[in-house]
Amino acid sequence: MNDLDLLISALQTSPNNLALAQVLAPQLVQASRWVDIITLLAALAQQHDAPAAIVQSVDQARARLAELQAQASAVRLAEPLPVAHDDLEHLANFAPLNKERNTVRFADVGGMDTLKAVAQMKIVQPFANPALFKKYGKTAGGGILLYGPPGCGKTYFAKAIAGECDAAFFNVGIHDILNLYVGNSERNVQRLFATARSQRPAILFIDELDALGRKRDLMRHSNLTSTINAFLAELDGAVSDNDNLLVIGATNAPWDIDSAFKRPGRFDQLLFVPPPDAKARQAILDLHLTKRPCETDLDTTRLSQDTEQFSGADLAALVDEAASRVLTEVLGGGAERPITQADLLAARKPMKASTQEWLATARNYVEYANEGGDYSDVAQYLDGAGQSKRGKFGFF
Ligand SMILES: Nc1ncnc2c1ncn2[C@@H]1O[C@H](COP(=O)(O)OP(=O)(O)O)[C@@H](O)[C@H]1O
Ligand SMILES: [Mg+2]
Repeated sequence: MNDLDLLISALQTSPNNLALAQVLAPQLVQASRWVDIITLLAALAQQHDAPAAIVQSVDQARARLAELQAQASAVRLAEPLPVAHDDLEHLANFAPLNKERNTVRFADVGGMDTLKAVAQMKIVQPFANPALFKKYGKTAGGGILLYGPPGCGKTYFAKAIAGECDAAFFNVGIHDILNLYVGNSERNVQRLFATARSQRPAILFIDELDALGRKRDLMRHSNLTSTINAFLAELDGAVSDNDNLLVIGATNAPWDIDSAFKRPGRFDQLLFVPPPDAKARQAILDLHLTKRPCETDLDTTRLSQDTEQFSGADLAALVDEAASRVLTEVLGGGAERPITQADLLAARKPMKASTQEWLATARNYVEYANEGGDYSDVAQYLDGAGQSKRGKFGFF
């Protein structure tokens, strides 16, 4: 072991030793040990009393790693990247959702009949009857982007698709893919697709896709470029064919997603997940109420009519607030009692639908940037809502 390695192992033994870290920092820079700098010193650099030498070394390491990553992206990504043995332990392992544990089905999704019908035809049936679809020149696979206001069931609906399809379902967040080590995010992308392909028919669900697919001019850190390129190469099937591999992305901000992601053969179908309709709202309210002690004559039909444009998450919050009211009363010495209609109404009163801001933004895109009719389902939704409720919401 040389001196530097001795110092490193000393710091590993007492990772909060600022004096030691201060001595080590310039030596690590000198030796270009960028990854070691991040692993050993990044946390220390965050402390308010961190010595300048430590902070500088971490900044320098970050900048250098970003450069290296950009250079790596210039390398063709169609071939698997060689993996340094030491790095293997830092890579993610991807496994499909456990069928027994995912119990969500279309029946558990309240309302949303149009969306269910579309998903049946585009996703569920092609997987169930591949031969029939092939006969008519259609195959399962490709990319679909679910979009809509936050809290309205994109993630939930994707789980229901998993429940309906007899396919391996991989539920992946961007943070499962991104990795600090140079080249590892790309390797994670390759691993993910390779694992999914090996278990076809398979569905790959990537939540919050905008974190990866943001328009390049919106991205502050360009070091995602190589990860994005790796992802697009896999999506194109440049490496291997993608038959019977369906990739579903979800996002609140489809307009922020780089158009490279929306080219034919990539995420070329956009499906709008609207705020729940009255029937869906009632189903969601009932779903959250059945888990709690309630009066038997609760009228959720009326409440569902009085919560236009509420998201699923808003409705969950409403029920939660009603329960808190009762609980506060009980803790203050009151007798235990079930949740009543009055509790629900009181909880409803101060609330506003959280989807309004999103819908106002969407309206702008529909009116001024609906190239290729990408957002026609939103336009249709807004028109429908506009006819019955014109003037009620500020933006119509
Ligand atoms: N149509 C629906 N039927 C039943 N529950 C719903 C529905 N839409 C939303 N929810 C509820 O709202 C919660 C938030 O939805 P989620 O899928 O996380 O929203 P998003 O991914 O669009 O932000 C879900 O966990 C679910 O409990
Ligand atoms: Mg979600």
